[in-house]
Amino acid sequence: MRVKLNHVRCYYMAREELLMIPGPTFLAESTLKAMSRQMISHRSKETGTLLTRCVERLKEVFRTENDLFILTASGTGAMEAALANIVEPGDKILCTTCGKFSERFKKIAEVFEANVVEVSSEWGDAINPEQVKAALDEHGDVKAVTVTHNETSTGVKNPVEEISRIVKNHGALLIVDAISSMGGDHIPVDEWKIDLCLAGSQKCFAIPPGFSFISVSDEAWEVINKTKRRAFYFDLVSYKKSLGKSPPQTPYTIAITLLYALDDALNLMFDEGLDNVIARHHSVAKLTRDGVKAMGLELFPVREEICSVTVTAVKMPEGIKDQEFRQKVREHGVVISGGQDKLTGEIFRIGHMGRVTEREIDITLKAIKQALLDLKFPLREALLQR
Ligand SMILES: Cc1ncc(COP(=O)(O)O)c(C=O)c1O
Repeated sequence: MRVKLNHVRCYYMAREELLMIPGPTFLAESTLKAMSRQMISHRSKETGTLLTRCVERLKEVFRTENDLFILTASGTGAMEAALANIVEPGDKILCTTCGKFSERFKKIAEVFEANVVEVSSEWGDAINPEQVKAALDEHGDVKAVTVTHNETSTGVKNPVEEISRIVKNHGALLIVDAISSMGGDHIPVDEWKIDLCLAGSQKCFAIPPGFSFISVSDEAWEVINKTKRRAFYFDLVSYKKSLGKSPPQTPYTIAITLLYALDDALNLMFDEGLDNVIARHHSVAKLTRDGVKAMGLELFPVREEICSVTVTAVKMPEGIKDQEFRQKVREHGVVISGGQDKLTGEIFRIGHMGRVTEREIDITLKAIKQALLDLKFPLREALLQR
């Protein structure tokens, strides 16, 4: 039986469910409306104006003066674009791995026949910058280093700023996947000297899946211009040429509906203030962690300081079965995620990115608590007496 959440405004609920997974996230009502507009030509002045306005504001979100491109592709497309434009067979690429998404970088680098050097941490822990330094000292000729800022599969945030200092001392390019954190956490691309930084539309930007964003530094261009690229759709040189045309455009047809959505989502972010958006993400993340700990549950990341600001990973309580538990949470009106790959059944994950406020966290924690009570899990006594 589905419990009706009469106290929740319904526009953001698909089938009366509140979506609290780590992307896609629920959309604002104005974003939904923006997407109902009629098509325009993808080579028109109107699209050019819209595209330029979005790119300029995305640069502010990325805190960068580097080039920035919008790709009509999900986040993985941006990961592939980053590597396709700089990797030639045999190039040494250092991939830092600590979960499913950081491992994806390694897989893509292998497809492009890179000579991959791996620095890994246990799933649940962050990358150790000292190990990155040791690997770079050992392998003198690393061309680029990949880091996943927010490892969505484990709820862990990696120390990009520290890693950047090491990588830049070494002279390699730094590629950062900020797909599930850009817009929700502080990631100043220029200050941290990130050469290629990636973000995804369906995460903190709260628009549908289908766009990814990639910023490209001057240092990255130097490498790209010397690389015999093996990409067509993702050839960044053609994106730069097209954006420089009059009117500005993309080499291939951009998802116009998503551009309407992005323009609206950026309006909302700028109206709220970029720093306020980040502060809200930090505050809902803390509320979530405090809430699950108060129930007697344990966070999955090995230390609270490395916990993600956009997704909270929680160890599956003793004796509770993943499918049954998440089904119960769903019956109480909220959709959360399970673990991926080797963490299937071991953890559950609550996404709190995009438009999420205290109110949705409160609803989510109540649904989790109720599901655990239904399953006879011994919640902390104090909580039961409240
Ligand atoms: C950190 C990270 N990287 C990459 C991806 C892949 O993005 P997509 O599923 O949009 O291709 C995701 C998606 O969840 C992610 O969280």
